Amino acid sequence: MTPHIHVQHPLVNHHITRLRDRSTPPAEFRQLLHRLAALLAYEATQDLVTCETDVQTPLAVTTGRVLKDRVGLVPILRAGLGMVDPILDLIPTAEVWHLGVYRDEATARPVEYYSKIPASQPVDVALVLDPMLATGGSACAALSTLRAWGVKRIKVLSVIAARTGLDRVLSEFPEVSIHVCAIDPELNEHKFIVPGLGDAGDRSFNTLRE
Ligand code: PRP
Repeated sequence: MTPHIHVQHPLVNHHITRLRDRSTPPAEFRQLLHRLAALLAYEATQDLVTCETDVQTPLAVTTGRVLKDRVGLVPILRAGLGMVDPILDLIPTAEVWHLGVYRDEATARPVEYYSKIPASQPVDVALVLDPMLATGGSACAALSTLRAWGVKRIKVLSVIAARTGLDRVLSEFPEVSIHVCAIDPELNEHKFIVPGLGDAGDRSFNTLRE
């Protein structure tokens, strides 16, 4: 089984603490999510394939390397949208393929409502973006879709995961690597991650109604 990768870094720990804080307003929440997404992407893209190319500097010709892999970003709507821009900034040639999945409030099961995934020509590497992995149902639904598309290398980038959800995804998709900033111990009776950070979609988009 591919081990998950828990990104342990002082900057990650610093930003995730502010992200968890219930008093952090949406504008700052979005900024923090951007920073954490970039740090996760840096970690998760270490094995991207590059090829040699010549480059003319102002002084001489030298050899450099450029990305060879076709990279697809797959944000899970809504909250995953908040991770797209910082990663596109790092990988400007990446493609973005949106997937809409929400959790039914009564059953906590994933409901797929939108897919931009085409029928053929899969990307070489897909980065699934979702700040939260709770039961793992949404991630598993996205991974089934990408597997059916034919993507061989898939990575899930999630800011926070519950241990049970993480274990579920790893057992159902052993070939997928999962990169997370924090692993929380439990889900409450509503299947929310505890201590967690609340609902990332609502906190990002200022749609929280108490
Ligand atoms: C949240 C979150 C994940 C999912 C995690 O989305 O962003 O997509 O729940 O839960 P799971 O691992 O149990 O499937 P939500 O359903 O709240 O939709 P939203 O992003 O539109 O708010």
